[in-house]
Amino acid sequence: MEEVKVYDEYTSSIFDGAENDPDNLVVVKNLKKYFPIKSSFFKITVGNVKAVDDVSFKIKRGTTMGLVGESGCGKSTIGRTLLRLIEKTDGQVFIGGKDIFALSKNDLRKERPNIQIIFQDPYASLSPRLPIGEIIGEAVREHGIVPPEEFDDYISRVMEACGLPDYYKPRYPHEFSGGQRQRICIARALALNPDFIVCDEPVSALDVSIQAQIINLLRDLQKQFGLTYLFISHDLSVVEYISDTVGVMYLGNMVEFAPTEKIYANPKHPYTEALFSAIPYPDPDYKVNRIILEGSIPSPANPPSGCKFHTRCRKCMEVCKYIQPDFKELEPEHFCACHLFNTPERQKELDELVAKMKAEEGEKGSTEKQKGNK
Ligand SMILES: Nc1ncnc2c1ncn2[C@@H]1O[C@H](COP(=O)(O)OP(=O)(O)OP(=O)(O)O)[C@@H](O)[C@H]1O
Ligand code: SF4
Ligand SMILES: [Mg+2]
Repeated sequence: MEEVKVYDEYTSSIFDGAENDPDNLVVVKNLKKYFPIKSSFFKITVGNVKAVDDVSFKIKRGTTMGLVGESGCGKSTIGRTLLRLIEKTDGQVFIGGKDIFALSKNDLRKERPNIQIIFQDPYASLSPRLPIGEIIGEAVREHGIVPPEEFDDYISRVMEACGLPDYYKPRYPHEFSGGQRQRICIARALALNPDFIVCDEPVSALDVSIQAQIINLLRDLQKQFGLTYLFISHDLSVVEYISDTVGVMYLGNMVEFAPTEKIYANPKHPYTEALFSAIPYPDPDYKVNRIILEGSIPSPANPPSGCKFHTRCRKCMEVCKYIQPDFKELEPEHFCACHLFNTPERQKELDELVAKMKAEEGEKGSTEKQKGNK
């Protein structure tokens, strides 16, 4: 039988040492990002939005990891924290073996070209006052990516790789369509010769035929330049097409993470099961057993106790209401956090713990009742 690795928050990460393997370009260990909630009057912190709450994953060089989950589950926050556009609350992020949060300001600046991001809205992310040759070339010049005499030629080649003829250089962003603007954003990222690109919903704002062109462009560039992507999207069919591995998030937690074919063919976590059951199939004879998720997503400022999904899970057990499940490797490279997969020994341990917690709850309840009667 395969040895089951269990992640224990207080001892180590399930991906311990993964950053030393040169095949892993990105390694994220127990990443947390909390946003403080301030009281409106005294500006005192009265709580936290746990946008990313102890997330671990790794991305192999030259591959794409898809990141999916309902709106507000923390996908963009992961992307932004990975690039250190915002500071972390806890945990570690390694890119190319370097601990991103341990870098000095100067070293981070040198590392910047290597890690890029493409946003959902190509309209908002391009300066309207600069011609696109300048938009694509600005950071290339700043970081001295090529000698000045090669600059023009280099920008033309990058544009060509992204399907943009070089006579577009003097034109301004408002002269282009949505799809062309997203090509400009991709060219701007690519021009810095990065290893890793976070694509945050890069095609959500585009219509379907243009979406396919941009997805295929991203795939071609990946093959040509050996790029590694974190691809954030709501569209599960697009994620299946482009990703080598997929991570599923719920309310700040990674609930399942596995190679694409494994997770799509055999989702283990009840949330993944429900999410994937909603994928439309083009074949009308294909019967889909759609699982309807009841209730709305709880607030990340006040998440449910135990397994955060327990208030909506059709397989919820008593233990789920009290104890957060371990994030563990069920089979090679297939990770899941759900009590359904506890070993009998672990289940026994947890049942005893739950009985103790319930007894304490009962004692507390009766003391409060007595106080109330006095
Ligand atoms: N700067 C911020 N200050 C306070 N809360 C924030 C901030 N940024 C994000 N949040 C909160 O963190 C949670 C996660 O947000 P995030 O944008 O990462 O979600 P998402 O999964 O990308 O959602 P969507 O699919 O809608 O883009 C949300 O509850 C959001 O309101
Ligand atoms: S731990 Fe329990 S509540 Fe959470 S997903 Fe698994 S079965 Fe459902
Ligand atoms: Mg987002």
